[in-house]
Amino acid sequence: MTRQRNISRDFTRREFLSVSGASALSLANLRFGDAAQPSPQISPASQTDSPFPRDFLWGAATSAYQIEGAAREDGKGPSVWDEFAHKPGKIHDGQTGDVTCDFYHRYPEDISHMREMRLTAFRFSISWPRVLPDGIGAVNQKGIDFYSRLVDALLAAGIAPIATLFHWDTPLALHHRGGWLSRDMPQRFGDYAAIVARALSDRVTHWLTINEPRSFIGGAYVTGVQAPGEKLSRAEYMRAAHITFLAHGRAVQAIRANAHRPAQIGYACDVSPSLPATDSAADVAASRESAFSSPLDHFSGAHWWRENAWWLDPVFLGRYPAAALAALGKDAPKILSGDMETIHQPLDFLGANIYGGWLVRAGTPDKTDSHPEPVPFPAGFPLTAFGWQITPDAMYWGPKWLHERYHMPIFITENGCSSRDSISLDGKVHDPQRIDFTARYLLALARASREGVPLLGYLHWSLLDNFEWQEGYTQRFGLIFVDFPTRRRIPKDSALWYAAVIKSNGASLM
Ligand code: FCB
Repeated sequence: MTRQRNISRDFTRREFLSVSGASALSLANLRFGDAAQPSPQISPASQTDSPFPRDFLWGAATSAYQIEGAAREDGKGPSVWDEFAHKPGKIHDGQTGDVTCDFYHRYPEDISHMREMRLTAFRFSISWPRVLPDGIGAVNQKGIDFYSRLVDALLAAGIAPIATLFHWDTPLALHHRGGWLSRDMPQRFGDYAAIVARALSDRVTHWLTINEPRSFIGGAYVTGVQAPGEKLSRAEYMRAAHITFLAHGRAVQAIRANAHRPAQIGYACDVSPSLPATDSAADVAASRESAFSSPLDHFSGAHWWRENAWWLDPVFLGRYPAAALAALGKDAPKILSGDMETIHQPLDFLGANIYGGWLVRAGTPDKTDSHPEPVPFPAGFPLTAFGWQITPDAMYWGPKWLHERYHMPIFITENGCSSRDSISLDGKVHDPQRIDFTARYLLALARASREGVPLLGYLHWSLLDNFEWQEGYTQRFGLIFVDFPTRRRIPKDSALWYAAVIKSNGASLM
């Protein structure tokens, strides 16, 4: 992840103050068995007090390269990440995902933790080169069998499997054949999607095609800090983005054509909403306008992570933002006949990965051509361990703006924070920052829900501490602590807290 966020918000809103760090901490002293009893600080909650829909899915999210390990086992082929992580100087301290959490072997243990936490959904990604070692051609049955066993074990635990087809681990062989710059890639991805759908769709009903196309293209081809580590020209990386959209469309077609049961298909986009600097109507209008404006500076490394419309409009509206197309000029992707129809497939939900937003205010009123203005963060603004600004309002305005524009049910497919977790003298892992962070974001989501935004679920990033791309193992995002030398798991206080939130369907937050 390479966000260069310029995000701000105010922390004065009343609804967020109702969550105190103190109540979060006292919950954290519970053991799993105790989660059934409400803590004295938490008002006894029932499902009827919940701001969330009755069938709201509560889960955690992961991705293959970040947790599986078994990088060269059972016939798996190499991905661009397997190669990139071994290049000197690319990853913190030369770390790799070769073994990482060893989820490939330890998933039964992890599923028992999920069960204790009462998760009702688990998002994982399928490693394309584990299924097709060369990206095309012969299927590696052992790879399919792994995901099949995983799905069976999740279902036996009462947990809905949510499968992502691509979370950045492009088969190396396909990269060498042009990768995401090749117009052959959508067909290849569609063929892979068909194989996976045929194998798993008798049991998997929820699918995500591509994870975070914006971050993927940004890290892989704009800044080049992620695999395969290339810095392309703007025309080239915009071409790669267009091909990624086409691949999404082909995968949707392939899942629908091959699914044994009706499939619920979405697309997991990273969204950084613009947030109104104050509650004034003018600032709210500025935020609404900025959320989907596409100025040219959103297409360079500097403000790459502020652009939303480019990454969503083609998929949900069947067109690129006209202003951006015009501004990009000769760097805009070449759109062939039929492309936009392929990209614009009917979807069942909009998956939004929301970590934060950026603050805007209305432009100077006396100027006739006044536009919304980004507002810098004040000094000392709250940050996660990663240095990302903590902006819970993003979880209110994000779903609200997304629903207004695209009219789709929203599924929060990622949200979370890294913190400097370690094992305390009492043998436990106390992570009050994560509890407070998550409570604030969930309260903002509850507000969106109460105002009528249709929500399908919330998936916390992440289940386990894991390999955080170029940062290696320095950023702990898990609800479960992983002691990497031994791979031992310890559910953090936040896991116990999350179990209580899930049990009350979110009512315990109120
Ligand atoms: C998201 C990625 C995920 C992880 C989190 C922290 O952007 O999808 O793999 O890196 O950020």
